[in-house]
Amino acid sequence: MSDGHRGNPSTAARAVALTARFEALPGARGAGAGASGPVALVRAPGRVNLIGEHTDYNEGLVLPAAIDREVWIAFAPWDRPEVELTSAVFGDTRSFSFKGLSPETRGTKSWIDYVAATAWSMRDAGLPVRGFRGVIDSTVPIGSGLSSSAALEMASSWALAVPGAPRPDAGAMAAIAQRGENRYVGVNCGIMDQFASAAGRAGHALLIDCRINQFKTAPMPAGLSLVVCETGSSRKLEASAYNTRRSECELGVKLIAEREPGVKALRDIDEAMLERNRDRLPEVVARRCEHVVREDARVMATVAALADGDLEALGQLFAASHASLRDLYEVSSAELDAMVDIAVAVPGVVASRMTGAGFGGCTVSLVKHGAEEALRDAVLAQYQKRTGLEPRVYIVAAVDGAGGVKQGA
Ligand code: GLA
Repeated sequence: MSDGHRGNPSTAARAVALTARFEALPGARGAGAGASGPVALVRAPGRVNLIGEHTDYNEGLVLPAAIDREVWIAFAPWDRPEVELTSAVFGDTRSFSFKGLSPETRGTKSWIDYVAATAWSMRDAGLPVRGFRGVIDSTVPIGSGLSSSAALEMASSWALAVPGAPRPDAGAMAAIAQRGENRYVGVNCGIMDQFASAAGRAGHALLIDCRINQFKTAPMPAGLSLVVCETGSSRKLEASAYNTRRSECELGVKLIAEREPGVKALRDIDEAMLERNRDRLPEVVARRCEHVVREDARVMATVAALADGDLEALGQLFAASHASLRDLYEVSSAELDAMVDIAVAVPGVVASRMTGAGFGGCTVSLVKHGAEEALRDAVLAQYQKRTGLEPRVYIVAAVDGAGGVKQGA
């Protein structure tokens, strides 16, 4: 999706541009089309995960940050039980009705399904929703592992919400959106992406405990930039491999729980327990479990290293996470490995690893201020030669989570 890679204009500029696009829709203010009141604006960020990969669906710990790559919707509520959205990214207009909305009658297999999924799940959770007509735009690269879908869901949740109605907290709202994606869209994701988009805090990462859906903020250390490098490699294996990994983890839990009472998820298993039960597990399952158990510990160690400004520890933790995802969990790729290789050789790059589900997508690097361009130059000079693919490099900032930007939202 070429258009997803545009620059990231300022908030004010985007608000003006998207509102103007809405006003320019044929009949934007026509009968029943939100004839009065201001145009409302909502936004929701994508995310990058610092560490804690494939732990969320094991009731573990993750450390993502919401980033300044965002989905925006400019809209006017109307009286109809329907949503009609025009995408500035794809250039098409799609709609759905609340009537008869259910996973069984899922419609279009397009981007609007994520909006419909959120509407279905909100209604299923007993939340009131409103219809609207609007325009949607995004600077989250699509299909790159930066959670463009979760951002679309969380922005939708704000547009759909009836102002003044009680709103669940960010964790509960993320769970509702996740359920929509699981049940309505049919993607078996964990809760991390929606949670990060919902709860982000400017200048901070979020330490999320996916067992209880609670989070704490962890300040990004002064002096470090967050850099995302996109491999440009296909993630087509991702969905089936993701589901296989999930089942392997579940099998590990089942086999260990036969001997260890009280074990409900990999979160309940530490390294010692895993070792004494290793003989019960198929070899592949043991490796998957080892990754998850150790990755949870690395998340806590990373939070401590960020607080202490311990750059060496950060480098080691990211390297260990990447190696574990490559060798034990087997979700890296030649392209992701090459990208990390190139990054860690650049002076000023503190830490680098693959981020997200894997099989392509992006890496995340922590980079000393002033070294960002050296990283970009190294990637542009070396990556294509090594892989034949065109990389993209984004210097991103941690931003606040989803919400209304302008009245009416
Ligand atoms: C995807 C999923 C998340 C999480 C990551 C891996 O992004 O949507 O829930 O499982 O992969 O950490």
